[in-house]
Amino acid sequence: MKDTLLKIRDEAELAIEAPGADLEALRIKYLGKKGELTAVLRGMGQLSAEERPVIGALANEIRADIEAKLEARKGAAAAEALEAKLKSEKLDVTVPGTKIEVGKMHPISLVQRQLEEIFLGMGYEIAEGPEVELDYYNFQALNIPEDHPARDTQDTFYITDNILLRSQTSPVQVRTMEKKRPPIKIISPGRVYRSDAVDATHSPLFHQVEGLVVDKGVTMGDLKGTLETFAKTMFGEDTRIRFRPHHFPFTEPSAEVDVSCFACGGKGCRLCKGEGWIEILGAGMVHPNVLRSCGIDPEEYSGFAFGLGVERIVMLKYHIDDMRHLYENDVRFLHQF
Ligand code: PHE
Repeated sequence: MKDTLLKIRDEAELAIEAPGADLEALRIKYLGKKGELTAVLRGMGQLSAEERPVIGALANEIRADIEAKLEARKGAAAAEALEAKLKSEKLDVTVPGTKIEVGKMHPISLVQRQLEEIFLGMGYEIAEGPEVELDYYNFQALNIPEDHPARDTQDTFYITDNILLRSQTSPVQVRTMEKKRPPIKIISPGRVYRSDAVDATHSPLFHQVEGLVVDKGVTMGDLKGTLETFAKTMFGEDTRIRFRPHHFPFTEPSAEVDVSCFACGGKGCRLCKGEGWIEILGAGMVHPNVLRSCGIDPEEYSGFAFGLGVERIVMLKYHIDDMRHLYENDVRFLHQF
């Protein structure tokens, strides 16, 4: 019996050491309820009283040996597995990473933000209006009736006879005055559309910023002061402004406003085409008909409005000679701002 036990131990030890051994299967084979060692112990009944404790002690010793061997081999196997896993998952931190392209703000957005900042700083609120607009807001309520010649200069895209893509941000004036009682002090940036062919200075889609102030006792002096402050903040402290008489159906009197050329200071250069002045916006005192059509009494209130083209300012500020660059989305161009 002793020999059988020692043989079991030798066999078990060899099997456990064998490469790729299934340790759980071996445990069952030798130590399990139906295992070889258990089978030997079952036969202990036949032994003599002197032999029994000796063989019992040996069996226990062998069980402990096999268990210890199994445990040791299990630990080694786990370490080997970890080693293999670490090897296969090794990360080479010196390999160059995947480059993530980071975009930049478009120059139109950039200038629009600057314009917003300037007027927010003067206490204006930002108002918005739809780009798909009713003829009523884009024209009629702005004192431009059906057959008015001013419609020719702002020909746009029609959805129906009555619905069009707005040709200016001025309809937001009307929408604001319909909703809000004075004092009103808003700017309204956004896209506008005209059926112009694309060239270096025209695009069927461009951007404007509208301004509107309505209150008791608002004068042309307030308009001038406001635009002067704006021009100095936008183009530099030395900038001067000039009002030239003009006509807009929805303002009276109306003016086109120039800033002194910020490239040459007014002496005349390529940028200002030798003029010394650069036109940047249209403005005027809100026409009494417009106030009236919004339910505001022109005897009690007055106001001024202005509208500027964002692309114009972008092109002047960054010396861009062709408007098409702004819409082609070439990153080599856009990354310069
Ligand atoms: N809406 C005019 C345009 O697009 C500009 C303007 C706005 C003029 C407000 C006067 C007052 O040409």
